[in-house]
Amino acid sequence: MSDLPETVDPTAIGPLELVEFPHPALRRPTRPLVRLDEAVREAVAEMFDIMYEAQGIGLAANQVALPYRIFVVNCAGARGQGEEHVFINPVLSRPRGTAVQEEGCLSLPGVRMDVRRPAKIVVDAWSLAGEPIHLDLDGLFARVVQHEFDHLDGRLFTDRLPEAAALEARRSLESLHDVFVGKQSRGELPGDEVLLADLERLEAARCRA
Ligand code: NI
Repeated sequence: MSDLPETVDPTAIGPLELVEFPHPALRRPTRPLVRLDEAVREAVAEMFDIMYEAQGIGLAANQVALPYRIFVVNCAGARGQGEEHVFINPVLSRPRGTAVQEEGCLSLPGVRMDVRRPAKIVVDAWSLAGEPIHLDLDGLFARVVQHEFDHLDGRLFTDRLPEAAALEARRSLESLHDVFVGKQSRGELPGDEVLLADLERLEAARCRA
């Protein structure tokens, strides 16, 4: 027993969980990370765990309610296969060509649609070791990087659909919305104010004011 009051570390990153639409973290643009500490390294490892568990090939930090510009990718989608990539504060440039391919998103369960994107892209970022990354990508890797980069700006692949497909997607989004709000109203998920306050706390801990 201690007489000291229990204090909460304002930089703490709790156990992470995949969040689904319309969790407010998904629509809130993330902020550049300026402090790369042990908690962030642990969070990145946890992001890979969550991604593999959900059978994904990419995961953005705001999909686990972290407001930072970080995403992880492994095009093989399985631990021990392919290559794990961590992109911190990424910048995309030199989009070339176009390609259409079906996409899904771990935060939009059940939604799969064809999405048109540039076929090739250059990504510059920082690795977890603090080293610069510069990659000229095409194929699936280029697509995943663009999908995850969109997340960091609060964009979902359903924002990039032509009109007819967008209408179809809207019905799925409305069902997800009803499920999410239902969980909030039953107290199974905190309300938006609480979720937003936690994002603000984490921004204050590791982003420039
Ligand atoms: Ni996604």
